[in-house]
Amino acid sequence: MSGTQFFINRYAQLGWKFKETKLRQSIRINQTNAKGKNLPERLRSSGVDLEKVPFLPAGYWITKSKFSVGATAEYLLGMYSIQEAAAQIPATLFTTLKGKTVLDACAAPGGKTVQLADLMANSGTITALDINKKRSAAMANHLERCHISNTIVYNLDARQATKLNPTFDRILLDVPCSGNFASDKEWFNRRTFADVERNAQVQKEILAEAVKCLASDGEIVYSTCSLEPEEDELNMDWSVKNLGLQTQEVDCPGENGLTEVFGRKLDPSVAHCKRIWPGETQGFFVCKLKKVGMQ
Ligand SMILES: C[S@@+](CC[C@H](N)C(=O)[O-])C[C@H]1O[C@@H](n2cnc3c(N)ncnc32)[C@H](O)[C@@H]1O
Repeated sequence: MSGTQFFINRYAQLGWKFKETKLRQSIRINQTNAKGKNLPERLRSSGVDLEKVPFLPAGYWITKSKFSVGATAEYLLGMYSIQEAAAQIPATLFTTLKGKTVLDACAAPGGKTVQLADLMANSGTITALDINKKRSAAMANHLERCHISNTIVYNLDARQATKLNPTFDRILLDVPCSGNFASDKEWFNRRTFADVERNAQVQKEILAEAVKCLASDGEIVYSTCSLEPEEDELNMDWSVKNLGLQTQEVDCPGENGLTEVFGRKLDPSVAHCKRIWPGETQGFFVCKLKKVGMQ
């Protein structure tokens, strides 16, 4: 069986019929930098047609543009970011962010870090980690372009986050994952099940370290752009059973997390997670978690 067929068969077993997808390009307005600038109107008058993404507070689809939306003065001034629509969801799921201490544990190139800082209006602090030195440097440049002033960047493995000492009120785990075919045309040729298993193991290790850094009433948002349940529901089931975490209900697009995977029954609370199959967005998975007993 080809790798393509192996994965497509798995999606069918999980209840989703494979179809080719065409992603829509989207941007996110950085409210702090674009305040009073009437950005949607300003972009429209320069030839960029926009349509509000209904499920995102600051997201817009690009419906037509005469030029690359990464080449405008407004983009270079950090008034908006080019950010895939599903990828804009995780940062919006935290209850309060302003004034909080936030850990963005797998942060480069910083798309969600900029979004978090914007939602915090540059208040509180963000500690942004990435294991990759080059990507950490690129993230620092990205943050500077977007005038982010509440963030410290560390080139550090998230599995060593306790070295930083403090506890965090909010932790974003946008973990390294296997990705999905909708955002990578070569995905089926590149990926093997061994990659999925290796990533799932690293993700568990990152989750376990994050729990040690989480304030007792803190919140974790876990996200992947992987469709593979080993990196999604199975990891959340494992976290509920082994890390003293409980899943939380969230209000965002997507199907409820799978509670039965290839014949294996998971903790019913995994249904609180959201699974987005590819369509106008890429495939995505998101789950909000708290320590047991903290509602
Ligand atoms: C999905 S990307 C993050 C995207 C980022 N959150 C954003 O929105 O721009 C995953 C990142 O995790 C980093 N990474 C991989 N293993 C890591 C680890 N053990 N600790 C910290 N970062 C890691 C990768 O270098 C990569 O930049």
